[in-house]
Amino acid sequence: MDVISVIRTKRDRGELSPAQIDWVIDAYTRGEVAHEQMSSLAMAIFLNGMNRTEIARWTAAMIASGERMDFSSLPRPTADKHSTGGVGDKITLPLAPLVAACGAAVPQLSGRGLGHTGGTLDKLESIPGWRATLSNAAMLDVLRDVGSVICAAGDGLAPADKKLYALRDVTGTVESIPLIASSIMSKKIAEGTGSLVLDVKVGSGAFMKDLDNARELASTMVELGTDHGVKTVALLTDMATPLGLTAGNALEVRESVEVLAGGGPQDVIDLTLALAREMLDAAGLKDADPAKALADGSAMDHWRRMIRAQGGDPDATLPVAREQHVVTASSSGTLTTLDAYAVGLAAWRLGAGRARKEDPVQAGAGIEMHAKPGDTVTAGQPLLTLHTDTPEKLPYALEALDGSVLVGPADAAFAATPVVLERIA
Ligand code: URA
Repeated sequence: MDVISVIRTKRDRGELSPAQIDWVIDAYTRGEVAHEQMSSLAMAIFLNGMNRTEIARWTAAMIASGERMDFSSLPRPTADKHSTGGVGDKITLPLAPLVAACGAAVPQLSGRGLGHTGGTLDKLESIPGWRATLSNAAMLDVLRDVGSVICAAGDGLAPADKKLYALRDVTGTVESIPLIASSIMSKKIAEGTGSLVLDVKVGSGAFMKDLDNARELASTMVELGTDHGVKTVALLTDMATPLGLTAGNALEVRESVEVLAGGGPQDVIDLTLALAREMLDAAGLKDADPAKALADGSAMDHWRRMIRAQGGDPDATLPVAREQHVVTASSSGTLTTLDAYAVGLAAWRLGAGRARKEDPVQAGAGIEMHAKPGDTVTAGQPLLTLHTDTPEKLPYALEALDGSVLVGPADAAFAATPVVLERIA
């Protein structure tokens, strides 16, 4: 087998054979295929696509590049959730302990943020003492004792994807449905969960800007999961406007704790409960009542135990940024637009996100929103509070928001979008 013939096959719009796929993934993981050769193949796939047979084989080859975890010794059924990433998407934080409180085991392997979307591990690391890295044995212990664990994926899980994703990130080949679907599903299948709920975001703040592409990504992933014996369901959810009223690490932890305490913004509560119901259903726990577990404090109790099990202090004061800047409404009327991408980019420029994988993030940086689309606002009222330790970045954050927070007349036509747009099973 030689790599140039594999690249030529895809460059010329041919179908990669199972042998070609198995070989190229294995040879790239071992370092025999060079980064420049894989980046050429990734671009050919980006431009010419892969069919369902190729995607399934590509995913299987990435799973086979590393270890597979096994949770079959746990007394509870396992259920996991994966979000394709959005602005203000802190749902994993209340969701994992909530689903554990209802009887499932939630092995939530999460990532760090890159670009305008935040990462779950960055958010949790704003809690003093909390550690993202656990050995496989320690992860299993937390799952057994608490029922949920949120931690970094170990290096042994789908190493081919780890290498390929880093390469795609710097070669303009991230936004390809076959490559995204195989990347996400190889990690989730290797993780060994029995059931999986996918939250596929749609809108300006998401990878998938329109419903047709989101549907295609969701159905590709559902099919991959199902073919590997993982009960998989996808919800398409709105990401035209940020989720909740905060975007930024410690700010989002604070809002998640509000939800666990029985309060918090309605869209965050609604999506947390919708995903919890799907996870519990997929895990065979059809009689569980997640709304009750939020209201009676049992989800909060699981959160506190989960944070402590990873060295964190659930009662510690969360970091606050050194500087705040308030953006006010320039006129009275109805808030018609609060664009998710603009808010994510502004939060990133304030220091909540990173430009390169090795960059640090500011725990306190980000944006608090004081109104959401559809709300009535009056001239001079605060719309946003920007938080940062680096106030010299404020003008760049404000530039990102320019034209993306719009107030229309009081009687402006406004159609509220539901959080959950579609379900694909
Ligand atoms: N998340 C992943 O894990 N992989 C992708 O390709 C895109 C998002």
